[in-house]
Amino acid sequence: MIKISRSKETDLKISSVLLFSKKDLKDKTLTESFTQEDLLKIADSKEKFDYTKKGNHFNFAICSDQSDEQLRVSGSVIQKIISEKIDKLQIIGDEKSVILFSEGLILANYKFTKYLSEANENKLSEIIVSDGIKSSKVDELVNSCKVVYWTRDMVNEPVSYLTALKLSEEVAKAGDEAGFSVTVLNKSQIEALKMGGLLGVNRGSMDPPTFTIAEYKHPKAVNKNPIILVGKGVVYDTGGLSLKPTPGSMDCMKSDMAGAAAVAGAIYLAALQKLKINLIVLIPATDNRPGMDAYTPGDILTMHNGSTVEVLNTDAEGRLILADALSYADKYKPEVVIDAATLTGAAVRAIGTHASIVMGNASDEYFKELEEAGNQVHERVVRFPFWDEYYKEMKSTIADLKNIGGGNAGMITAGKFLEHFIKSPYIHMDVAGPTWLDAPEAYRPKGGTGSGVRLFYQFLKNRIK
Ligand code: BES
Ligand code: MG
Ligand code: ZN
Repeated sequence: MIKISRSKETDLKISSVLLFSKKDLKDKTLTESFTQEDLLKIADSKEKFDYTKKGNHFNFAICSDQSDEQLRVSGSVIQKIISEKIDKLQIIGDEKSVILFSEGLILANYKFTKYLSEANENKLSEIIVSDGIKSSKVDELVNSCKVVYWTRDMVNEPVSYLTALKLSEEVAKAGDEAGFSVTVLNKSQIEALKMGGLLGVNRGSMDPPTFTIAEYKHPKAVNKNPIILVGKGVVYDTGGLSLKPTPGSMDCMKSDMAGAAAVAGAIYLAALQKLKINLIVLIPATDNRPGMDAYTPGDILTMHNGSTVEVLNTDAEGRLILADALSYADKYKPEVVIDAATLTGAAVRAIGTHASIVMGNASDEYFKELEEAGNQVHERVVRFPFWDEYYKEMKSTIADLKNIGGGNAGMITAGKFLEHFIKSPYIHMDVAGPTWLDAPEAYRPKGGTGSGVRLFYQFLKNRIK
């Protein structure tokens, strides 16, 4: 990852970015490469930036009178211009603009290179900011980008490497580093807990399931009862016997643990930043395959909470493993439980890749806070209805519930299914859209985006104060 150094002086030999505001143009001549007149022109232009280039020496000037997200996007635009050409870049400007711009630049500089015979890493490897920028702000940015990279790596890893067991080991490693505890329940412990959903989905797999419990508790936590984040950890979703088609469907289903990666990333970052909170993360994990003993359409599963579920489509597996995790969550008497899950294609069809869909029965405050955090970090959420009419579709005639609803509003019927299994205040977040991209968008790469980490971190951070 890009290293950030703080320095007293600027070095004219190093390429630079000047983030300037129109209002401080008058009193200072800010740069050698641009006259005040040039900067005024830039400020009034549509692009809001310009640059000079001599060989491989660049000087950028960017007007900082833009939205937070526009500044992040600027970072990604400049990254594309320079990342293969120069190794160092100094960034000059006010603290807020420098941090936002750097965030976009660093997040855009990510590459998943593990499986390339010839590693073609970006040349850009260091940014230098003024020592006037608080080291706590720099550290927070470094930790946040590092964890987003980690989360993207998890999603980009194929199932041949990232089995359920491997995923749990990676979370445990993060726990050792950042200081949160991780307990991994194995198959026989999951059997003892009668988690029929997780075990049912796992039946077609060669690999055992895991149930990972990560706990982070600050001695001065602002909340007494924990906040619980639950992540869907389907390390690969073939659909099972209700097999998926390959193109644009099964071919990206290594990403079906992106919810798990996001909540694991959230506790990792919260612990690195020593947030004053009490946080628990639960991750039920398995792959979903049509093996010899695979569960079948028509099967009836008995879940962790004792309810029975008629399986009518083995591709609606996420809700089965999450249901067990949600009823398990109740024992901690959480103040609120939020799950993140790549749960439905319906969510992607409804709003695409630009937001997650949230719904639930928790008080409006939590939704407001999620919305606000989402807007701050530009990982936006859209609230959908959660009326009981949708629940009726999930009733079976031969079991308590069935695992699919009618043809419409599939993201909501899935959410209502999940609500049945939890007594605590609950929010369901369908992250199927934003966690995976087929083509890059600004500072989000093709493949795993790491979406959810910055959202949850900001949400938790906003609660402290
Ligand atoms: N993992 C998929 C949902 C998904 C689809 C995530 C596209 C990301 C992109 C989930 O397990 C699934 O297969 N859902 C089914 C549910 C249906 C059978 C009720 C779906 O959405 O088609
Ligand atoms: Mg599925
Ligand atoms: Zn799935």
